[in-house]
Amino acid sequence: MSGSPGYSGAPRRQRRRRPRDAEEGPAFPRVVTNRARGAREVRQETVVQAEAMDVDVDVEKTTEAAAGGVDGSYLSDTRFDQCNVSPLSLKGIHDAGYERLTRVQEATLPVILQGKDVLAKAKTGTGKTVAFLLPAIELLSKLPRSTSINLLVMLPTRELANQVAVEARKLLKYHSTLDVQVVIGGTRLPQEQRSMKSSPCQILVATPGRLIDHLDNTPGFATRIKGVKVLVLDEADRLLDMGFRRDIEKIISFIPKGRQTLLFSATVPAEVRQISNLAMQKDYKFINTVQEGDEETHSQVNQMYMVASLDMHFSILYDLLKKHAAEDVEYKVIIFCTTAKFTKLVAEVLSQLKLNIRQIHSRISQSARTKVSDEFRKSKGLILVSSDVSARGVDYPDVSLVIQVGLPSDRQQYIHRLGRTGRKGKEGQGILLLAPWEKHFLNSVNDLSILEAVAPSVNPSIQAEVKGAVRKVDMSSKESAYQAWLGYYNSNKTVNRDKPRLVKLAEEFSQSMGLEVPPAIPKLILRKMGLLNVAGLRSS
Ligand code: CDP
Ligand code: MG
Repeated sequence: MSGSPGYSGAPRRQRRRRPRDAEEGPAFPRVVTNRARGAREVRQETVVQAEAMDVDVDVEKTTEAAAGGVDGSYLSDTRFDQCNVSPLSLKGIHDAGYERLTRVQEATLPVILQGKDVLAKAKTGTGKTVAFLLPAIELLSKLPRSTSINLLVMLPTRELANQVAVEARKLLKYHSTLDVQVVIGGTRLPQEQRSMKSSPCQILVATPGRLIDHLDNTPGFATRIKGVKVLVLDEADRLLDMGFRRDIEKIISFIPKGRQTLLFSATVPAEVRQISNLAMQKDYKFINTVQEGDEETHSQVNQMYMVASLDMHFSILYDLLKKHAAEDVEYKVIIFCTTAKFTKLVAEVLSQLKLNIRQIHSRISQSARTKVSDEFRKSKGLILVSSDVSARGVDYPDVSLVIQVGLPSDRQQYIHRLGRTGRKGKEGQGILLLAPWEKHFLNSVNDLSILEAVAPSVNPSIQAEVKGAVRKVDMSSKESAYQAWLGYYNSNKTVNRDKPRLVKLAEEFSQSMGLEVPPAIPKLILRKMGLLNVAGLRSS
């Protein structure tokens, strides 16, 4: 094979290269067209994946030099010691290795310190965490010592909660009167109740479901939460979408109206601005650091999509991963899959192919998640197959490639998953792998520079190797993946209108797993999906 004309898949950053075998072919696929840009957005129903994690992650100590990256544009010229920040916070900031504010931090700090409600939009990996934590901590440090919760940070996933608490602890290092605790699902409630009782914190980082558990079951908690002076919704658009909105409304009803509210996200769809009065004062300030005409994704991240029939997806994935690993010994890849069960299946297939695979989703034990998340944060040369538990907020350093397999549930999800790479001004790559009938998704992201690429033509012996690997995977994993596939695509408005077509596509999916006959599905589940008497589906 010859090299790719006009395009090299390798990011511009310096890489330690492995010698390439002449027969390996181009590292990445050939780009054939430049997608036309437009403005139309097609919104799809958000598929709520109530998957969350319990990961006590250790954020690596970062210095700006280490953060470096190819372009420092995420940083402003302002140094923290030039700002109206207390000496105690400054010492913590210094120890954390931060010298200059990022742009979003520079833009929001004075406004938040004035006590204004703020809705802030800034691209992924540009320092939104410190942007809300630092001014909130400054405001809290001026309050009399308290056993109430004064700052409540809500976020959609457990691992993100732990990560934000780690960041808060860095800033709190010298604030002896302030403490932070995390409450998240998947851990034992009594344990959280005990630690909140023995050392009541002023700062609480929480996922919505578990916070409601405490409101319902923890004596005195509803009173403590009345002390909230600052409420933060991180990943605000996710927290205000239909999956979480009711919980958030309930939580807000317990918090005094006089509080200050901060909403942060990399994506702020028009609907979120419309309903932001649900959480904020009318005169809130919208601070948007994504300039007019600029894209919501990073220009230093090469984005591609490729379309190929489902039966080729495993082979293509294998091919892409092998070539990426050969290109960059420090590779670190996240593969996002549509559902937890499909995530498990993909991880099992790729593990059979002897790639260095880890998996993370709601179907593995809590301790396994913690281990995997920690390991992925610290290591290189790893491939993490993930459901959307890792789609938002998580700050794994130096992810070189993000692959999304199958239909993303909406534009925001695409942007946030992609945002796991190209953080802090660094380079990265994104590949979206779609089946032909999933191409309609591209309409919702046609303002982003996603280039069409030709899927690699995988040679027959590799295809046979991959088929062999697929065959070795347990039948139970395939059955589960098939069921989850139906559930996911049946909840997608564009696919679910035409049931005979849905059934046919599901059959295609089952064939891609090497099954001749699609698995039978329990009647109860088919009924729940509204697919009970749909012709072509087998029930058990
Ligand atoms: O929330 P967002 O996606 O915008 O990014 P983040 O999770 O807060 O990650 C920002 C990264 O930039 C972290 O690794 C920080 O250590 C680093 N950083 C920062 O937050 N603030 C600075 N002034 C400098 C670096
Ligand atoms: Mg964030």
